[in-house]
Amino acid sequence: MSKKIISPGGAVDGVVELPGDKSISHRYAIVAALAEGTSEISNYASAADCHSTLECLRGLGVAIESKDRTVRIAGKGLDGLKEPRRTLDAENSGSTMRMLAGVLSGQNFTSTITGDGSLRKRPMRRVIEPLRQMGAGIRSQEGDRAPLEIRGGKLRAIDYTPPTPSAQVKSAILLAGLYADGVTTVRESVSTRDHTELALREFGATMEISRGEIRVHSRPKLAAHQLSVPGDLSTAVFLIGATLVLPGSALMLHNVGLNPTRTRVLDFLISIGAPIHVATVQARDGELIGDVSVRHAALEGGAISGKQVAEMIDELPMLAALGPFTEKGIEIHDAQELRVKESDRIRTLAEGLRQMGARVEEFPDGMRVEGRAAGKLRGAKIDPAGDHRIAMALSVAALGAEGDTVIRDADCVGVSFPEFFATLDRLRGAAKE
Ligand code: S3P
Repeated sequence: MSKKIISPGGAVDGVVELPGDKSISHRYAIVAALAEGTSEISNYASAADCHSTLECLRGLGVAIESKDRTVRIAGKGLDGLKEPRRTLDAENSGSTMRMLAGVLSGQNFTSTITGDGSLRKRPMRRVIEPLRQMGAGIRSQEGDRAPLEIRGGKLRAIDYTPPTPSAQVKSAILLAGLYADGVTTVRESVSTRDHTELALREFGATMEISRGEIRVHSRPKLAAHQLSVPGDLSTAVFLIGATLVLPGSALMLHNVGLNPTRTRVLDFLISIGAPIHVATVQARDGELIGDVSVRHAALEGGAISGKQVAEMIDELPMLAALGPFTEKGIEIHDAQELRVKESDRIRTLAEGLRQMGARVEEFPDGMRVEGRAAGKLRGAKIDPAGDHRIAMALSVAALGAEGDTVIRDADCVGVSFPEFFATLDRLRGAAKE
């Protein structure tokens, strides 16, 4: 277990090209494995989670070469995956487990997928339920937890509305829908990230996508593709956070993914006073990319609730940790989902921020972090509970604290952004030069 000491102060200054988006990388890899021919994916995520997906696909007999962030995947076609000899291991990655559960449901073999201690505690009923309705035989541990033993077979198309908005659940059903006997429909009241739909369409599937309703036709012929993954906006948000915490900072991010199902966080930050500009937006492989620049400014603070929660689910830790740097604080409601992420993010954030001297009220569905008037943060010893986004959010808050902060188990940032600390050091170093 590594620890990282964060000394406060300095300023962020520079230009960054981010590693590929985690959500998109998973999907390109999975769909490429089901396509015919060899796909080449450049700027594949450096996130450990996306390497878990590659390992699981290898376990299913897919040949994958990976070099300098370019991944070549020899697709097996819809029916070419092999029964794995060992249990598949999604490690810390909920996306890997839930999306592959959809694919495994359509196979003519039985397989088992597990994960690390955190993933084995996370709820899987949300995918088990619809996949069983489609005809898969799924055995889980008590409380619908992983490992999941999945007996695939002939699947029925369903028309399903997930009770909680979730891109992972939607994706599992759409991927299973490739193997179903008709047109599979997923309905959603909040538009969650649509990368699966866009990737399937890019590889040749027939998709009908409209607001609130996504339909996939069965047994498409998916053809290999060359694609490039946009930079990860959810990762960018931690660097944007550092820019907003440190006076005198300015940052330019090139080739960031700007899919409208992901950019609500930028709208929110702009609404509370962050000077963020987006330029040179273009479409690539069905996704939008562009350059994002941000400068330090005083933030007003504000409230997040309702459908905003699903739209910025991965950014909430960073937004909460910005609370003490705002005038009015940050208040979050309707975010019970945060309790079943890589950690109970409401609890781990509240504990970490309190240890740094913030005034925090915890609610069953969210939290309130008081603004500047509650006093300056102070350095503390932080345990991020193995959760990458908590480690990064609290590291950013530590930049604006008085005194050093020690982040225990800081390597956990590798789950989504292994270069986080090095990038932050480089950007702060550049400001000193
Ligand atoms: C993801 C969807 C979100 C998000 C996760 C990645 C995805 O989860 O929190 O980090 O890639 O589909 P839910 O779909 O469970 O909300």
